Amino acid sequence: MAFNDAFLEELRAKNEISEVIGSYVNLKRAGRLYKGLCPFHGEKTPSFTVYPDTQSFYCFGCGAGGDVVTFIRKAENLDYIEAVKLLADRSGVRMPDSGYDDSMLKRRNRIYEINKEAAHFFFRQLTDEQNRHALQYYFNRGYTFDTIKHFGLGYAPDSWDALKKHLNELHYSNEELYAANLLKKSAKGGYYDNFRGRVMIPIIDIRGRVVGFGGRVMDDSKPKYINTSDTLAYKKTHQIFAMNFAKNHCKDAIILCEGYMDVIALHQAGFENAVASCGTALTPEQVRTIAKYTDTVILSQDADEAGRKAVDKSIALFGEVGIKVKVLNVQGAKDPDEYIQKFGADRFKALLEGAETDTEYKLLLAKQKYDLTSPAQLADYVGEAARILSELSPVKRDIYASEIAEQTKVSKQAILSESKRFAGKAARTKRREMNRSAMQMQDDKDKINPEKRRHKAAALAEEHIIAVLMNHPDCIRTVSANLTEEDFVTAFNRHIFAVITRRIREGKSLNLSAVAQELSEEELGTLAGLEAMGKSLGNPQRELLECITTLKEEKLKLVQPDLAHMSDEEFRKLFEN
Ligand code: GTP
Ligand code: MN
Repeated sequence: MAFNDAFLEELRAKNEISEVIGSYVNLKRAGRLYKGLCPFHGEKTPSFTVYPDTQSFYCFGCGAGGDVVTFIRKAENLDYIEAVKLLADRSGVRMPDSGYDDSMLKRRNRIYEINKEAAHFFFRQLTDEQNRHALQYYFNRGYTFDTIKHFGLGYAPDSWDALKKHLNELHYSNEELYAANLLKKSAKGGYYDNFRGRVMIPIIDIRGRVVGFGGRVMDDSKPKYINTSDTLAYKKTHQIFAMNFAKNHCKDAIILCEGYMDVIALHQAGFENAVASCGTALTPEQVRTIAKYTDTVILSQDADEAGRKAVDKSIALFGEVGIKVKVLNVQGAKDPDEYIQKFGADRFKALLEGAETDTEYKLLLAKQKYDLTSPAQLADYVGEAARILSELSPVKRDIYASEIAEQTKVSKQAILSESKRFAGKAARTKRREMNRSAMQMQDDKDKINPEKRRHKAAALAEEHIIAVLMNHPDCIRTVSANLTEEDFVTAFNRHIFAVITRRIREGKSLNLSAVAQELSEEELGTLAGLEAMGKSLGNPQRELLECITTLKEEKLKLVQPDLAHMSDEEFRKLFEN
């Protein structure tokens, strides 16, 4: 399972952590460290820290931490071996020929292969005279054959085993096809094709691999779509449809739609910066991916109630990572696909150019709700508008307030003071929320070591001991003379302690890349945090002795019965013993 230390050392040396992380996160130097906004949770002030001297990172907000491999694992959603491989490829380090378990990697690669074969199969079906109706379906929607090829669209024949037979002939087992979610299992244990009688849209990841499919019926029957469910190779909450194409066309903006079909129609019409989430509501992971490629998003959701709700949610999610949001006002068609069919690409282009800022969009929605000729409703509208303005900078607030004053004949002064009141209220709520979310995050961090809550003092002492050892391995002598792992109260810290003290005694490196193979992701994150904390300890030796004393006292309290609350009888027994 393990890579040897020399290999890991070379990998580490050739993949300088601040350089690697710097290609994902905008890092600013702060003395000997770098700081940036954490890519693993939404934040506006940087608590994500990179330590070049120990080649590690740690986020004081969410507790994510580790070495360069851990970072790649989390950022690219890979397993350990895959992340090592990615770094090796990136830096021209040769992977060892054997000695590690890459069965997971192999199984995942098989799924990519299978998906590719399946996509070819579905595409070929379109040219079969028997399936003329499927090709006609695409043509009826206005897609050209070039578009069909570009997206690799296809057709799954209405058969229980057409794909299964084909892929079996290529020597893929039913178990593997089942793991790719291309087959389903009947109650009796037989396998059958998951996609039948549907037009097929391959979902391709940023690196060009077919990770899954969306299959649509060709009439009004239900369900309209069947999508690949999560597999080893596919996580739908992380995936963005057509990002493989859009990534090269989105410097100015990305157009975010709801449906695959919208995206395909837009690309065909020349808008190659269109993408969609894969049949789920937008997730923070997808938002972070989009934020890697652009700083402006144009929301182009369907013109129905669900679409409007999605817009509200998306505005909030993009706001959290500082992406500028614009909203398309698609009128006279239910979605961008239909809009292009009806009015053409030029009109859509004009629509894009006229896209409202999120503020304009919100004001427009508010205005549509009220009858402005009624004084009571006019007042409600102004109130709501003032609340919308309260989220803006003073300058923008002033500009919009002028406009609203003109529309409504309410004094600008009144609008501004009302929105200031809202802003104050919002700031107070926000502070409360931030405190709460900080507490929640602390809670989550504490959950990593579940015993910490009950044994706070002991756990803190344990953590300090580990922190000292990470930074001053020579303190092992003091530790050995005074402490064994049996003295540890929490099992989580005991394991970390056992691993690092054993490594020190064996003369092995304590850098996180080397230790990583012996620890879980959570343990490694915690260790990165402790290593960071240990850098700022004043007198390590004294700190260590104090913590050892504390830990032993705490342990004693646990093993020693509570004398004060003992009955005379119990006390006598204990004494006699
Ligand atoms: P058309 O209606 O053919 O234009 O398709 P569309 O791709 O525009 O789909 P629509 O706007 O109805 O839905 C948006 C997205 O939601 C689709 O692309 C799918 O990813 C997903 N979706 C829609 N219907 C279903 C369904 O019945 N099941 C699942 N799992 N996902 C669906
Ligand atoms: Mn549609």
